[in-house]
Amino acid sequence: MAGVPRETEDSQASLASRKRKRELRFIVCGSVDDGNSTLLDRLLHDSRTVLRDQFSAAEAESRIWDARGDAFDFALTVDGLQEEPGQGAAIDVAYRQFESDKRKFTAIDTTGREQHTQNLVTGVSNADLALILVDVRKGILSRTRRHSHVASLMGIRQVILAVDKMDLVGYRQDLFSSIVDDYGRFARELEIEQVHAVPLSALTGENVFERQNRAPWYNGPTLMELLETVEIGPGGEQGPFRLPVRRVNGPNSEFRGIGGTVASGRIERGMPVVVSPSGETTTVERIVGPSGELEIAVAGQSIRLALTDEIDVSRGDMISGTDRPPEVADQFAAHLIWMDAQPMLPERSYLARFAGGSAVARVTDLTHRVDVDTMGRFAAKTLELNEIGYCKISLDRPVPFDSCSDVRRTGAFLLIDRSTNATAGAGMIGFALRRASNVVWQDLKTDKAERSRAIGQTPCVLWLTGLSGAGKSTIADRLEQKLRALGKHTYVLDGDNVRHGLNRDLGFTDRDRVENIRRVSEVARLMVDAGLIVIVSFISPFRSEREMARNLMEEGEFFEIFVDTPLDVCEARDPKGLYVKARRGEIPNFTGIDSPYEAPDDPDLRIDTTKLSAEQAAQSVVQLLRRKDY
Ligand code: ADX
Repeated sequence: MAGVPRETEDSQASLASRKRKRELRFIVCGSVDDGNSTLLDRLLHDSRTVLRDQFSAAEAESRIWDARGDAFDFALTVDGLQEEPGQGAAIDVAYRQFESDKRKFTAIDTTGREQHTQNLVTGVSNADLALILVDVRKGILSRTRRHSHVASLMGIRQVILAVDKMDLVGYRQDLFSSIVDDYGRFARELEIEQVHAVPLSALTGENVFERQNRAPWYNGPTLMELLETVEIGPGGEQGPFRLPVRRVNGPNSEFRGIGGTVASGRIERGMPVVVSPSGETTTVERIVGPSGELEIAVAGQSIRLALTDEIDVSRGDMISGTDRPPEVADQFAAHLIWMDAQPMLPERSYLARFAGGSAVARVTDLTHRVDVDTMGRFAAKTLELNEIGYCKISLDRPVPFDSCSDVRRTGAFLLIDRSTNATAGAGMIGFALRRASNVVWQDLKTDKAERSRAIGQTPCVLWLTGLSGAGKSTIADRLEQKLRALGKHTYVLDGDNVRHGLNRDLGFTDRDRVENIRRVSEVARLMVDAGLIVIVSFISPFRSEREMARNLMEEGEFFEIFVDTPLDVCEARDPKGLYVKARRGEIPNFTGIDSPYEAPDDPDLRIDTTKLSAEQAAQSVVQLLRRKDY
């Protein structure tokens, strides 16, 4: 038997992948004047086969979609923005494809547009490698560092450093070496493992496809040789198996299976698998690809799986191997790149989209902001557009995910602003936080239903929102009197009063107002749990937090009541003399003056205080409750 190679399943798999010529996707980082376009044009022009030339982001998206099924992508941002035209800057990334005898390539070009982090993030998320272009005369610039930093945060572990315009400096080795040293020092601080440096001239073509020997001191590979031979890193077929579930066909369809695109690793027929978050295990009975039955499937392939046992699987779950399953947790630490003009506010709730499902997320703790130039860490309270921070994030339910450095696709997530639907941030998960799983919910024998029965009422929240001086407190006071006269058990939570105690530490910045409303919502929830009718009287200027408060309560328990008094009327009344002071500049961030009030779009009740007295207003709330059978 010696000498006869055994046909293992491994070699079958590599055969299968060899048949599909491997594709290397690389992001080109630099800027117009660094000569991106010259180099790209040369690569496209001089490569033997040009597959297709430039196409738009939207087109690329559909092609990637075609090629990879419906893989999770940061490029989902493209979708998001197209659904809602006019929101945020359009994603402007060009995908240019070419091919050599050995490989296919997609060059992802964000040339000249890198000031928009969203382009860079979208580009990097689709790339296996970063091609960093440096002008030998200029060396490592701030934007070079910025690009490398984002690439490294997003899991890119190798970089080709193309030192261009060598022809303009007479191919001086010392200039090349000092740039390579500079960059090497910087790359070590990031987690970039491999830097391949090439001295070249895009203009003359030196060391792009061929050596013209104008730099005889350089014996390394040409740019093309590098592109053809660099490893197409992990997160591909070598990583642990991950299949985010996109579709589940019911028992009536011809094939009862679980559909999705393999995000990482490989799967074989008969392999044991685990479903997250449920943790149930089974084995793979069949694997079906677009053109029929498969023995093995690898990262990037769109497949359907039939499992041996009938277990519950739903869209958003994750199927993995049993040896290295993903984390399942509701808290984690992550780097966050902020991409929205509206700053990130801790404690505001956003929608988080992961490869494996979505959840409502809050940044509970912004640990620090990272300066991309110096790598310095700074204390920060919010993140502004284009800033990067490290933070702790808490979800409303456990979600399966990985550390971004283990599996890029399942270690990344997006934060969506729930009121505008805009993609607000891109995140890279560091590690799960265990804290949450050590605190369990304590079930108590007496519950809300029993407490409500005992006092004979259905509890709810009557949430009064409106400007300072709109009349909320006066109406709340009347309303409570009326409800008590009807035998109801009530409590009024008033902004000014709660700010004397529980929220004494909070001021009036956007960030503090978010926290103010979060705390009062939690208190209101406890009071509803105690069986009370809770009247909340807070300016609560942001839609997003009022929505959060509503979501904390059960369906039908929350009534948003807009105490609608125009600013000029509030200002004329000025019961506490605050508007006068605010106009004199003595109270910063005053609602309606230099801090926004977002009026409710569709409140459960709108009270026009220019037409109704406080008595009539309170009566209209009582009527609302009657209509709702309270
Ligand atoms: S909220 O915006 O965070 O909901 P909240 O209802 O708790 O505000 O407190 C508002 C009250 O604080 C106002 O009625 C007013 O008396 C007082 N106040 C003091 N400074 C400000 C300010 N900058 N903006 C608005 N209200 C202020």
